[in-house]
Amino acid sequence: MRIVLLGAPGSGKGTQSKLLIEKYKIPQISTGDLLRAAVAAGSDLGRKAKAAMDAGQLVSDDVVLGMIQERLSKPDARAGFILDGFPRNIPQAQALDAMLARLSQPLQLALLVDVDTEVLTTRLTGRRTCANAACGAIYNIYFTAPKSPGKCDKCGSNLAHRSDDNENTVRSRLQVYEQQTAPLVSYYKAQGKLRTVRGTGSVNEIFKNVTDIIEVQMRPLAAAMSAAQAAAAKNAPAKTAKPAKKPAPAKAAAKPAAKAAAKPVAKKPAAKKPAAKKKPAPKPKKKAVKKAAPKKAKKP
Ligand code: AP5
Repeated sequence: MRIVLLGAPGSGKGTQSKLLIEKYKIPQISTGDLLRAAVAAGSDLGRKAKAAMDAGQLVSDDVVLGMIQERLSKPDARAGFILDGFPRNIPQAQALDAMLARLSQPLQLALLVDVDTEVLTTRLTGRRTCANAACGAIYNIYFTAPKSPGKCDKCGSNLAHRSDDNENTVRSRLQVYEQQTAPLVSYYKAQGKLRTVRGTGSVNEIFKNVTDIIEVQMRPLAAAMSAAQAAAAKNAPAKTAKPAKKPAPAKAAAKPAAKAAAKPVAKKPAAKKPAAKKKPAPKPKKKAVKKAAPKKAKKP
């Protein structure tokens, strides 16, 4: 299952991804999360990314593509992945297609989470995220507030307010989305891979619609896989039935054996018969052979 989640900042990609990884046991690969981890670690990459992120602009393609290539090559991505926040523009989408073509693992679905722009600013400025990366639960002080303010309901860790979730940066992020990311909708539509889910309503309702789309999209694949398994099963008995053909090799083997035997047999039986009948004595063979050989030589 190889899926791209498309959608404006705050449309709910991260929220839905968390539920998808639980259900399908495949990793969510979020370039935003990877970049934030690099910033927090103070790495070179993080330093390069920070300025662009704080300004609500895209981090350069070469940085993001290098990161994605490395992440997709990890073993857990072989069973599939949910790409969240990547690709973000047409060159990234083309690079992703090329990467996946090299791995013979083309993308199967680009799912657009569609939300009206007016809702997005409130969602983003109200977002709080569990600071414990292993948990990463997402809240919203306006819609899904934690029970104890500032604390994660699931693990009790502190909640963080992302530095780019302020009104100014959100405005830039939404503009960048319209200019650079929204054209991906047509890109994936042209590939026949685009499906759209309405991103308003309860999180669970949206998730139900998301999984319905995924199941439908994966059905032909599942059918193709069971057909391949059925074909393999048909072939398997044919292979084990080959033992029925084993006699063939056995015969083939027997022929040379018979041929090989025929020559000595012409000599040996003559030698053995008299040996068995006339001299069942302790050492019959040597004498019998000695006698038989001259007889044969004489016949012609
Ligand atoms: P990134 O981290 O990817 O942010 P984003 O795309 O702006 O998306 P968000 O994480 O803000 O939103 P989301 O759709 O995941 O919403 P969520 O589920 O959290 O990118 C950050 C920055 O990194 C970029 O600006 C850029 O600089 C850089 N970057 C990242 N990828 C890059 C790339 N490929 N190339 C270049 N640069 C890159 O939900 C939001 C809020 O809404 C939450 O509070 C949630 O609780 C709430 N919510 C969710 N669903 C509902 C609902 N149904 N009803 C009510 N509230 C809801």
